[in-house]
Amino acid sequence: MDKNNNYRLETLLAHNTKDDRENRALTPPIAQTSTFYFDNMDQVKKAFNFETDDYVYTRGNNPTIRLFEEKMALIEKGNAAVAFASGMAAISSVLFSLLKPQDQVVFHRTLYGSTHTVAKTLLKKYDIDSKFIDLTNSDNLNALIDDAVKVIYFETPSNPNLELIDIQKIKKIIGDKNIKIVVDNTFLSPYFQNPLENGADIVLHSATKYISGHGDVVAGVVVSKDIDYIHRLKFDYMTEFGGVISPFNAWLLLRGLKTLHIRMKAHEANAIKIADYLNSHKKVTNVIYPSLESYPFTEVVSKQMRGFGAIITFEVKGSREDAVNFIDHLKLFKIAVSLGDIESLIEMPSEMTHLGYDKSELESFGLTEKMIRISVGLENHEDLIADLEKSLDRIK
Ligand SMILES: Cc1ncc(COP(=O)(O)O)c(C=O)c1O
Repeated sequence: MDKNNNYRLETLLAHNTKDDRENRALTPPIAQTSTFYFDNMDQVKKAFNFETDDYVYTRGNNPTIRLFEEKMALIEKGNAAVAFASGMAAISSVLFSLLKPQDQVVFHRTLYGSTHTVAKTLLKKYDIDSKFIDLTNSDNLNALIDDAVKVIYFETPSNPNLELIDIQKIKKIIGDKNIKIVVDNTFLSPYFQNPLENGADIVLHSATKYISGHGDVVAGVVVSKDIDYIHRLKFDYMTEFGGVISPFNAWLLLRGLKTLHIRMKAHEANAIKIADYLNSHKKVTNVIYPSLESYPFTEVVSKQMRGFGAIITFEVKGSREDAVNFIDHLKLFKIAVSLGDIESLIEMPSEMTHLGYDKSELESFGLTEKMIRISVGLENHEDLIADLEKSLDRIK
């Protein structure tokens, strides 16, 4: 594919950044090799000095992984990308690459559970000070910004309560200070949001979710416009920490990406219908989904998002036991962590994905023990609604 042509997203998703001219294989072969050989020591020297981009060892680079990274850089509107063995490998490598002892990092108060553990527990061991604030009100940031702050990190929408953070506003507040804005774009994928276009320096994904789309891969990816930063992240952190993705998983992600636009549209169409259904049900309360009138962040939606995604949170009226009774009797919604798969998934964040938080901390930002999160899949929406209805009928 001609990378300089301004192809639109669907075309970028369908084609690879490089054709396999040698074999004319339309689908690229998987470079399932750990190492690469050289013809002579001069070639070795050039590759090791980065004078050529010849492959050396798959923990550093690999043709299949490179194809995935190049495609991610294009669709996230960056200049370079690095893939990781998981979203958490990506997140922890980014944080450790940007921070050193005595630095401060500001996090939005709601984060995916393992990210919160890295922020709260692991960084502290290295004398890095994590502050957790409500970034939905960017004024909170003004009071905190000083020379020690090196990174502002958030998910938008946040997991699981779908709070939105205005990236442009955060960028304006930090002005020309040397602070990196890192955004986890897992919930929307590049189809619905490109944080780099709104002022983020680094965008990352749990590629396990919508990028894969099929629930068969664990992977992560980081994209930036800063080619030098990505080079350092790749060769000083990914390669040295060793959180490398396998070529096979990179290949599965390339396959998943081909249908990203179709899947995201279909996930969202189902989610809008299900959110409306839940919102009008008398046994359901506190439904959070961006298409609903009650959603508090509509201004940010129109500023930086091209769609709503397909994650919904809500509560069933009654006790925690009522919520459990409802969940346990669903047939199509599978009780599982993760999201973005073809199958609809359901979970209770306080007992599953966000177990690492103190209960009181969770309650303080509305994440009650009864909160339910669903990832709306690609089944027929009427079947999904019938499944919900049957289970809701059981609650008194
Ligand atoms: C928003 C978000 N970021 C990061 C992660 C971590 O990704 P992974 O499970 O691929 O390590 C998750 C996992 O659920 C997530 O939901």
